[in-house]
Amino acid sequence: MSKECLLVAISNQKGGVGKSALTVVLASYLHYEKDLNVAIIDCDSPQHSLVRMRERDKKAISASPYHQQLVEKQWERTQKRAYPIIGSTAEKAREAADKLAEKENLDIVFVDLPGTVQSTGVFRTIVNMDYVLTPSIPDLIVMQSTLSFATTVLDYAKSQKDVPLKDIIFFWNRLKKRSNTDVLKTYSQIMGELNLSVLDSTLPDLCRYEKEITHAKKSFFRCTMLPPPAKLLKGSGIGELADELIVKLKLK
Ligand SMILES: Nc1ncnc2c1ncn2[C@@H]1O[C@H](COP(=O)(O)OP(=O)(O)OP(=O)(O)O)[C@@H](O)[C@H]1O
Ligand SMILES: [Mg+2]
Repeated sequence: MSKECLLVAISNQKGGVGKSALTVVLASYLHYEKDLNVAIIDCDSPQHSLVRMRERDKKAISASPYHQQLVEKQWERTQKRAYPIIGSTAEKAREAADKLAEKENLDIVFVDLPGTVQSTGVFRTIVNMDYVLTPSIPDLIVMQSTLSFATTVLDYAKSQKDVPLKDIIFFWNRLKKRSNTDVLKTYSQIMGELNLSVLDSTLPDLCRYEKEITHAKKSFFRCTMLPPPAKLLKGSGIGELADELIVKLKLK
């Protein structure tokens, strides 16, 4: 396995906070726009929603001359193939990532973990990542369980010598236009006191996340074969989030 390949789990026990959606959008942006070599391990078994999304994207693109042309132009520009998306169980994710990194030259592997699983096997997967990225929504009940889980994991990681996990990095997702910034500041302060890292970048709640490629419509945001188009990237916070991560995780 190449030394520089970083393993990053996208994790939050709470469902619906945007783990899978952001895994794809971030992966596509970093792979197709930022010249990094990315892979995804999809642990949402047995549904494997991202593996299935790749299949949908392939079909939709081959049925649409407009999107096909975009993929061809991208190939001419980058000479890069689509990144791999591999299905795995959450318990076997580390092994799946190692296997992939052995045969491909990768900079970063995102592991999309399901919300509901809490088992020893998943705990092992989490502490065997380099980083955990945790999208969160500012909700009291969600935050209480998320924070206590994070501190438990980090305390364990610090107490063990051979555990690779370096940090759990939080960021806010799905912020409404009128969200209370005081609440966010309070949460961020509590997280600071617990020595948890919170990114400066925040992501607004936007309808564009629903837009997948179909042969009938040109517009799309979430796609495994193409990056989010510049027009829709603007205002999404994804570019800023990616730039902050590139610096924080020393990806370049
Ligand atoms: N910033 C956002 N603005 C609007 N919708 C969003 C945003 N982020 C995610 N979503 C939407 O929220 C829904 C839930 O997201 P997603 O499936 O990624 O959550 P998840 O954390 O992976 O859930 P699970 O734990 O069930 O796997 C999806 O419909 C997704 O498109
Ligand atoms: Mg998911």
